[in-house]
Amino acid sequence: MSKIVLTGGCGFIGSHTCVQLQNAGYDVIVIDNLSNSSADVIDNIAKITGKRPAFYNIDCCDLAALKEVFAKESDIVGVVHFAASKAVGESVLKPMLYYRNNITSLLNMLDMAEQYSLKGFVFSSSCTVYGEPDEGNNPVRETSPIKPATSPYGNTKQIAEEIITDLMKAGAKFKSILLRYFNPIGAHPTAFIGELPNGVPQNLLPYVCQTAMGIRKELSVFGDDYETPDGTCIRDYIDVNDLAKAHVRAIDRLVKGEQSENIDVFNLGTGRGVSVLELVNTFMEATGVKVPYKIAPRRGGDIEKIWGNVDKANTVLGWKAEVPLKETLANAWRWQLALREKGVM
Ligand code: UFG
Repeated sequence: MSKIVLTGGCGFIGSHTCVQLQNAGYDVIVIDNLSNSSADVIDNIAKITGKRPAFYNIDCCDLAALKEVFAKESDIVGVVHFAASKAVGESVLKPMLYYRNNITSLLNMLDMAEQYSLKGFVFSSSCTVYGEPDEGNNPVRETSPIKPATSPYGNTKQIAEEIITDLMKAGAKFKSILLRYFNPIGAHPTAFIGELPNGVPQNLLPYVCQTAMGIRKELSVFGDDYETPDGTCIRDYIDVNDLAKAHVRAIDRLVKGEQSENIDVFNLGTGRGVSVLELVNTFMEATGVKVPYKIAPRRGGDIEKIWGNVDKANTVLGWKAEVPLKETLANAWRWQLALREKGVM
């Protein structure tokens, strides 16, 4: 049985990817230091798939610990590397933490992939590398210009892409895929796994869910004077289950030797731009629950509008976003209700 190492497998996107990899028949080895997640996630993954992934509570910055895992487990064919710090605001305050954590863990995982002659390495990147697209450049393509990063977090994604690209150019033993996500949202339809933000949510949908639940008084819509149809910012919100399935396609492609290039890059989104107000209104329609909101000043550093051209993922990976937005939002709400039931929040 082919084994895949999934770093950050207890996190939001990681846990959903673990489910899809298991459903596709892979044996998954989760490596996670639980810095922004909990080991219960492994139990909940097992409830969904009927199979417990192997789990190591290890920091990917700890090379000696990683070496032990790779020495112990045999038949590892690929890595999907999610493990990273991801809060934009925190990265501005603690840049060293972000550079040390995100870059060291990447270097260590690449070392392991090289040393064990794996077939493939899939890296979790972000549309943040495109910055604010120039007028007329939406939807952004993989070939769209890369803009200087506006936060240390964003910079770690750019640097990571460059490191992997350089290594591939130098002729590594394995091949690689960079996946640039747009805005991942939602939860598994069973409501056994979902997003668990730390403290006050910074991202839109978790804030919407907590407001609908009464945990937050009202949502602040940051700015309604942008150059968009309703004045609020536009993003490409991608269902986390759809996103997870793209990782299976990516790792399959590498493991089965379908990719001739040493490295390739794919946008993962729906190809459709949705405004903040559209998202809030669709949430209310999907759930029947009211979300009190007010228009607040713009949030510093926000991009006005960005959505992805996903033709390449559609044609080359054979992957397409399928879950309708309403269903994604209903799943996120069901997850929020499950958290209340469990007394988490
Ligand atoms: N928003 C609000 N109110 C809130 C939270 C967000 O109006 O309480 C708005 C934002 O202003 C923005 C939109 O909702 O217009 C989406 O904001 P998110 O914070 O959910 O997502 P971002 O697009 O700002 O950021 C996300 C990830 C980053 C990643 C970036 C890439 O969180 O990690 O996409 O562009 F870098």
